[in-house]
Amino acid sequence: MCGIIGYVGSRPALPILVEGLRRLEYRGYDSAGVALIDDNLCVTKAAGRLSVLEQVLDLNAPQTAGIGHTRWATHGAPTDVNAHPHTDSSGKIAVIHNGIIENDRALRTYLEREGVTFKSETDTEVLAQLIGMLYDGDLEQAVRKALREVSGTYGIGVLCSDEPNVIVAARKGSPLIIGVGKGEHLLASDAAAILAHTTQVVYVGDGEIARITPDELRMTTLDAIPVAKDVEQIEWSLEEIELAGYDHFMIKEIFEQPEVLENCLRGRLDLKENAIRLGGLVDCTRELTRAKRIILTGCGTAWHAALVGEYLFEELVRIPTEVEYASEFRYRNPVIDDGTVVIAVSQSGETADTHAALAEAKQRGALTLGAVNVVGSTIARETDAGVYLHVGPEIGVASTKAFTGQVAVLAMIACFLGRRKHLSPSAAADFIAALSAVPKQIKQILDTADEAKKVAQQYTDRENWLYLGRGYNYPVALEGALKLKEISYIHAEGLPAAEMKHGPIALIHEGMPVVVIATAGSQYDKIINNMMQVRSRGGSVIAIATEGDREIAKQADHVLYVPNTLEPLQPLLTVIPLQLIAYHAAVIRGCNVDKPRNLAKSVTVE
Ligand code: AGP
Repeated sequence: MCGIIGYVGSRPALPILVEGLRRLEYRGYDSAGVALIDDNLCVTKAAGRLSVLEQVLDLNAPQTAGIGHTRWATHGAPTDVNAHPHTDSSGKIAVIHNGIIENDRALRTYLEREGVTFKSETDTEVLAQLIGMLYDGDLEQAVRKALREVSGTYGIGVLCSDEPNVIVAARKGSPLIIGVGKGEHLLASDAAAILAHTTQVVYVGDGEIARITPDELRMTTLDAIPVAKDVEQIEWSLEEIELAGYDHFMIKEIFEQPEVLENCLRGRLDLKENAIRLGGLVDCTRELTRAKRIILTGCGTAWHAALVGEYLFEELVRIPTEVEYASEFRYRNPVIDDGTVVIAVSQSGETADTHAALAEAKQRGALTLGAVNVVGSTIARETDAGVYLHVGPEIGVASTKAFTGQVAVLAMIACFLGRRKHLSPSAAADFIAALSAVPKQIKQILDTADEAKKVAQQYTDRENWLYLGRGYNYPVALEGALKLKEISYIHAEGLPAAEMKHGPIALIHEGMPVVVIATAGSQYDKIINNMMQVRSRGGSVIAIATEGDREIAKQADHVLYVPNTLEPLQPLLTVIPLQLIAYHAAVIRGCNVDKPRNLAKSVTVE
């Protein structure tokens, strides 16, 4: 989605803005632009990649204040004119904006009646023109007045040539942080954009306005009431957001999984006492153990992890558990009674639908938890309690380590609650021991990563794939199919294996790749039957099986092995070969692995 960067200080702003925009590229965009300011406003923007913009910029520009933006088109095509920053008719004011102004049509009509001529089709220009119309010598005041007139979501940065060395920023529903440096301040929608300069940040809250100069940060509410804010420390380092010798962030993040899962589990698995320690749940443990119902919600990969969570909670905690797409939950009339706990699962902590579902759940009185990766993100801050994933920054658009982190966190929450309900000490001990072995087991799978590459090489010319799984591996089948389609543009469908005979079996034809997760467990015989059904219709079976299974090769065209673990923890292992297949398929097909077409890393609009 769109990205925001801003700088006021004593250094030339442009290289800082361009570098920041480069670090925001992973979020997905289709045009970019910057505005620099001294006595005049100088705006440069271009459709396409950042490199196109760089060709028309004077990288030696001396100005020490400016804003930059990467746009992901919503209102109007990705053209030079529609790219941000947008200016008002006087040419004094420039605005960059993430989010959507929902009443832009009405405001546009009003402004046109007042004589404003628009240059672009965007909702952001409406905001720029409105601020321009209300400006009477005080930029912060004009922004405040304008924002009272708009509905929708925004994270904005605003410059005015009458007030050089000032950026006014504001937020409602779209993340913004202020980086605090020595004699300089930065503005960003994502910590990655400013990490090279500072790790000290102030989070802008919803309904807050920030006015930054090189030496001062002033925060107020929309009603001009001063807000005291703490400066917080970002834990992520610059190295973590760089490629470190890998060709793509996705493969780097796949290979990071053993290490980051260690980080996720560290201090939380107590192998001596056979207990799970979750500091984030201490204050609500009593309420949680009394919960009568759990609703897990999220989108995409996070929803798949939540589906694993449903199986885990029902088996370990014995509490009725449901999984809801956040986008459906927010618009239904969900039944939230006393004792309902809603867990929002999200890597970014900024996904608009998940955030809205959470707000709905809170309004109806649910206790809300977050299973979130980005520390300080909106969902993390707005939930009553939660457990961070601690898997480090995920840059590749295709979620990989966030999925395993989400499943690991849900497994720990399930075991933590299970022990306070029906889970026996010995069952908990087995579970904790098995979970602690997972990082090394993932490493073992990665040591044989070439096997998955060979499968990808053999089948990437096929345009339709099926993924089948049962029980805990059904969500993994969905996740494997999502990974393949989103980065290689191959059509893939994931199914609970038994559903195949209710329709999708009609699709199977000679040579169609069908990935079947057939690990040891309660439904092993049944999944072998499914494999036979596929093969007897000419399909090519790629099985994911448990090491030591000597029979499976007779029923499959290829077998990728994973180590043995408890059934509830299998998704943490079985997903790894599927991530690798998707990655290699995309590379072989020449796709842009980390920035697939039409996709954004974090979907902050509906
Ligand atoms: C998966 O590879 C995608 N990037 C997408 O489905 C993602 O998981 C979804 O948009 C939710 O994002 P979140 O975890 O940041 O909320």
